[in-house]
Order: sequence, then C-alpha cells, then structure tokens
Amino acid sequence: TMLDDGEKPLKGRNAIVTSGPTHEPIDPVRYIANRSSGRQGHAIAAALAKLGAEVTLVSGPVAIADPVGVHTVHVERAEEMRDAVLAALPADMAVMVAAVADWRVASAADQKLKKHPGESIPTLALTENPDILKTVGHHTMRPRLVIGFAAETQDVESNARAKLERKGADLIVANDVSPATGIMGGSRNSVRLIRHDGVERWPDLAKEEVAERLAALIAEYFHA
Ligand code: CTP
Ligand code: CA
Repeated sequence: TMLDDGEKPLKGRNAIVTSGPTHEPIDPVRYIANRSSGRQGHAIAAALAKLGAEVTLVSGPVAIADPVGVHTVHVERAEEMRDAVLAALPADMAVMVAAVADWRVASAADQKLKKHPGESIPTLALTENPDILKTVGHHTMRPRLVIGFAAETQDVESNARAKLERKGADLIVANDVSPATGIMGGSRNSVRLIRHDGVERWPDLAKEEVAERLAALIAEYFHA
C-alpha cells in the first residue's frame, strides 16, 4: 500500500461495524435467523482496530470470541442492532457486515407455542425489519465512509449495484454465496468491490485477508 504515516493510519477515527446474524423471536424458545458465522465482520473490526481505529462492533449472536481491542456490543434482534448502531453515531466510517433478518414475527408469543393434536398448525405473520445500512447511509449524521456487504446467489453485480444506490453506500462488498461456492460459514471469501465508478475483483482470500485489504483501502481513503 501507499501508506507512509506509520502503523496506525486510522488513529483518531471512529468505526462502527455490524457482524453476525440477528435472531428474531417467534416465542421464548424459537427464532428466525440468517446463516452467518460473524467471521468476516469480526475480522474487519479487528483489522480496523489494528490500524488504530476506535471500533464499536455491534454483533448479533455468534459462536466466536469478541475481537481484542474492540468495543463489542451484543444484540439479538435487528431493532436492537439498529438502536446500538445509531447510539454509536457520530462515526467516521460504518461497515455493515451483519446478515440482518429482513423480517421479524409481527407479534412474537410471550409463552412457548404448544402443539395441539388435531388442531391447525400455526402460521407466522411477518413484518419488515429496519434497514440499518440504508438508515445510516441517509442519516443526517452519515459517516464519511459507508460500506455495505451483499451476499447474493445470482446476478451478483447488478444486485449489489442496486444496493449501493438504494442504501446510500460508498462501496458494496459483494460475494456469491450460492451453495456451490461453499462460501457460507467457511473461512474464505471471494469478493467484488462495487463502487459508483467501477468494479474491482479480488482473488479468493481468507476472510482475515479480505478484512486486512479492506482496512488498508479504508486507511488510504482517509489518508487521501
Ligand atoms: N442490511 C442492514 N439492515 C437490513 C438488511 C440489510 O443493515 N435490515 C445491510 C447488510 O448488513 C448488508 C447490506 O445491507 O451490508 C445488504 O444486505 P442484503 O441482505 O444483501 O440486502 P437487502 O437490502 O436485505 O436485500 P435482499 O436480502 O432482498 O437481497
Ligand atoms: Ca436481506
């Protein structure tokens, strides 16, 4: 990279990172969730901290440890994640990596739903969750740099570009998560960077390497 101002080019910069899935309760013992290990988001939080940024990581339920040197806020639901992200503003940058559940159960049950033999099976009425990236991308306290992720199973580039526009992001990191790629839950990632002025394809990399490259690119952005 072209960095020449020491090892901590993001010193003094605040970053918000979301990671992991959200869990949307159905009743006290059941939930709806996306597949997400949190590995990519946590690696990005760690990589930004390593470059000197003050990082607030808003994490959904994951099985991995909090990154060292990062302020981690644990949440369950999308609305809680949104609240924690907004509470962390203002910030210089936001990197939204979480696999937020698009819908939640309209009215979660207070008590465990029980089977009643011979009676009808329950159906779930869903309602839309807040779009956290879109909220931040259009916020009056919008961070200078807003980055989103897009996990797609088809038409990766056109879908990601539509998200770039719709959500008010500066950059979308897109990856193909169709089952054949084996990306989901794995340790590697194969991404394309979608910007307003072009596309950049990165080779197949470990999630930690994707995180370090992205953090370096962010540092160059703030250095310029
Ligand atoms: N995102 C978010 N809040 C949501 C949904 C998504 O912050 N409620 C963020 C994700 O963290 C990611 C980006 O938006 O950075 C794209 O998420 P994705 O699920 O791919 O986009 P959606 O707009 O939900 O579109 P769809 O799932 O229909 O493809
Ligand atoms: Ca979604």
